[in-house]
Amino acid sequence: MKSKAAVLHGTHQEWQIEEIEVDAPKAGEVIVEWKAAGLCHSDEHLVTGDMVPPEEAWEMMGIESMWPAIGGHEGAGVIAEVGPGVTSVAVGDHVSASFVPSCGKCRYCSTGRQNLCDAGAGAFLKGMITDGTSRHHMADGSGDPMLFAKLGTFSQYTCVSTDQVIKVDTDLPLEAVALVSCGVATGWGSATNRAAVAPGDVVVVVGIGGIGINAVQGAAMAGARRVVAVDPIEFKREKAMEFGATETFTSMEEALPAVMELTHGMMADKVILTPGVLYGDLMALGTQLAGKGGTIVVTGVAPMTQTESSVNLFELAMWNKEIKGTIFGSLNPRADIPRLLDLYRDGQLKLDELITNRYSLEEINDGYQAMRDGTNIRGVVVHG
Ligand SMILES: NC(=O)c1ccc[n+]([C@@H]2O[C@H](COP(=O)([O-])OP(=O)(O)OC[C@H]3O[C@@H](n4cnc5c(N)ncnc54)[C@H](O)[C@@H]3O)[C@@H](O)[C@H]2O)c1
Ligand SMILES: [Zn+2]
Ligand SMILES: [Zn+2]
Repeated sequence: MKSKAAVLHGTHQEWQIEEIEVDAPKAGEVIVEWKAAGLCHSDEHLVTGDMVPPEEAWEMMGIESMWPAIGGHEGAGVIAEVGPGVTSVAVGDHVSASFVPSCGKCRYCSTGRQNLCDAGAGAFLKGMITDGTSRHHMADGSGDPMLFAKLGTFSQYTCVSTDQVIKVDTDLPLEAVALVSCGVATGWGSATNRAAVAPGDVVVVVGIGGIGINAVQGAAMAGARRVVAVDPIEFKREKAMEFGATETFTSMEEALPAVMELTHGMMADKVILTPGVLYGDLMALGTQLAGKGGTIVVTGVAPMTQTESSVNLFELAMWNKEIKGTIFGSLNPRADIPRLLDLYRDGQLKLDELITNRYSLEEINDGYQAMRDGTNIRGVVVHG
């Protein structure tokens, strides 16, 4: 079938709306008609090149080319077609995307760490998880595209592995489901799970975008005494207060003395770092904001080739701190996407309020410009 998709042909370019041809699904695959796709900062890293492996490394990584690339890994849609033998979902089912696959059988899935599923290897390669061959072709005959996270939710239709779709209840609005599939789960899980925020904790969240706002929401839900939100943009700080922050600051420099005063010198129990790009030099203040025994969760993505950071290793050891990375808030998509949606249905998790603006696929570059300008908490592409 034919589909319209937002395609990138290289770094520092705009998304182009082009036609692709999508083949019929094979065993273990489905065609999803994507209805809504969230504009997460991770796709922007393709544009800036922060999440593009250096070309010298492509051959070693088995990458023929990253381009053209179809964006989008936050999304929700409806199953349009199932491949031979697929029984886990049926045509008409509503699904959430999951940018981390869960095969259910690997060492990580079978020990409750689906966010680390082995099927996530080869994320930058073209071709399906199932057999490595491509189901997507540029309609103009210029080759096969790479699909971001093997999902490509910036296309009306894509063929994906059943390991990357999570069936959800049909009463839920698909825009809300889309947001949960990456931003909400990652931010909320960074606080509730990876940082393990406990009642009475003082928590600092740095960077209030689609991820950080949900870390704020998660920290508040987990019973934090204070949730300190840091962002240079006033609109973000105002939003943070609506989602459970108790105070806000424009920078980590400004937050540091305030957190010191607030905690009588003890500093924060948990610091969650969710800025748009997590440059290594942000780690100096990021780790200083945490007190003795404190946990620093690294959720924001650094440029791929960045290997230096400014952590004071003396303090790290002597204050018994820990720095933890996280992918997908260290949650399990099959259990936690439906769990978050239940909290939403019960009125305990805010999802509708996260959407600042909706865009048609053709307007996607406006949506990303709004992210750069800091005027959206989350923008959502609604496929027409
Ligand atoms: N670990 C994961 O699994 C995972 C999943 C999704 C997204 N991410 C990453 O999380 C990060 C945030 O994504 P997003 O979609 O929320 O981005 P976003 O652009 O919507 O929000 C980022 C926010 O950070 C703020 N900011 C930038 N520099 C700052 C600084 N030095 N101090 C304080 N605030 C600062 C910006 O003003 C903005 O409000 C990105 O790096 C993204 O790639 C990680
Ligand atoms: Zn994302
Ligand atoms: Zn697995």
